[in-house]
Amino acid sequence: MRSLRSGLVTLVTGLTALGALLVAAPGAQAADTPLRDLAAAKGKVIGSAVNPAKLTGTYGDIAGREFNSVTPDNAMKWESVEPSRGSFNWAPADQVVSFATAHNQQVRGHTLVWHSQNPGWLANGTWTQAQLSSILQDHITTEMTRYKGRIAAWDVVNEAFNEDGTYRSTIWSNGLGQDYIAQALTWARAADPGAKLYINDYNVEGVNAKSTALYNLVKSLKERGVPIDGVGLQAHLILGQVPSSLQQNIQRFADLGVDVAITELDIRMQLPATDAKLAQQAADYKAVMDACVAVSRCVGVTVWGFTDSDSWVPDVFDGYGAATPYTENFAPKPAYYAIAGSLGGGTTQPPGDGCTAVYSVVNQWSTGFTGQVRISCSGGSLSSWRANWTFGAGQRVTQAWNANCTQSGTAVTCSNASYNGTVPDGGSVTFGFNGTWSGSNPAPVVTLG
Ligand code: XIL
Repeated sequence: MRSLRSGLVTLVTGLTALGALLVAAPGAQAADTPLRDLAAAKGKVIGSAVNPAKLTGTYGDIAGREFNSVTPDNAMKWESVEPSRGSFNWAPADQVVSFATAHNQQVRGHTLVWHSQNPGWLANGTWTQAQLSSILQDHITTEMTRYKGRIAAWDVVNEAFNEDGTYRSTIWSNGLGQDYIAQALTWARAADPGAKLYINDYNVEGVNAKSTALYNLVKSLKERGVPIDGVGLQAHLILGQVPSSLQQNIQRFADLGVDVAITELDIRMQLPATDAKLAQQAADYKAVMDACVAVSRCVGVTVWGFTDSDSWVPDVFDGYGAATPYTENFAPKPAYYAIAGSLGGGTTQPPGDGCTAVYSVVNQWSTGFTGQVRISCSGGSLSSWRANWTFGAGQRVTQAWNANCTQSGTAVTCSNASYNGTVPDGGSVTFGFNGTWSGSNPAPVVTLG
């Protein structure tokens, strides 16, 4: 109590400035500019795929703070929105759209016409061409109308090509013929004339047979007057394998008069991650960012999940992972700083990078609670530490142990006690506190500084 009071007194003159600084950037690197501000200054989008079920706590804080665009990872796919025919589940997709509105973010709609993640009733049904055509038109119209005016860009058609540039055999190409793409785009334009309409694919980042087929399609759609505004390059890449023709490829699409977006960037490595692999990954992220920044019609980059704990890679590519810019514990990786650097921000990792702090409420009663912060290092170490956070709901620290804590307004700073400043690589330190709360007691993001 005593040290808290005296801390308050000494901090009181700097109260407003300190409070404002921490509220503006309450996350991992309070002193750094969020990626979205750097991107906005360059007129670019920096986005992430997000899982609506996770948009609270640290995950939600980072998603809102760092990105100016979000893409629902699965929530807008057909099997998610219409699991049985005529019965719709919009709740997860709605959540992403409201999160985006609340955080002043764009939404990338993903995706309307695809061979994968279609509901069983559709995939296993037997349809005449006329039935299939009207089912697809209804789907596009229903989903786009629901979110009309709130989706900046739609991945209307996803993954239409084989690696050799021929059309993929799908329910759509088989049932409707190759012109299903033009029809889908035309229906999409009618449903939401304000949304940018994209065709999106993977392994089309460099100049190759598949991207050339996509290029020829876009060229012919433009010539026919079919509405097409952009090309999405998914960019599910492998460590050390950013195609050298990436920028040239982006440029050739741009020269057709369409926008280009990197829509699903991740860069996977064989596990375990090492410092050398993480450094290569940072260089790879930078190469992708730089290529987009260099072409004015490249609107921006979306990562397919911002944290390694929320990436599809380990589930799908055996033995691979660590593909995103944040660790599983929400610590920014070298790739994060590479993205920031490419967008004109600082590239320096703060001391203690590789160390993260996790906040938890271990006990709570009517007006009080006991909180705990665990600082762990992996791939870094600390010889002293300060843990900072901002209470979002009026909570107050009343007493702390194993740390010296002060609170000024909503801003709390706890520094190590004389005996626990050292956190070795692979080790951790925990401190605790009692506090008061009322109404709600959300967990803040703790930053180390
Ligand atoms: C992935 C999701 O991330 C996974 O959760 C899901 O199990 C499978 O689909 N290309 C795309 C995305 O266009 O929709 C895919 O997303 C990844 C590959």
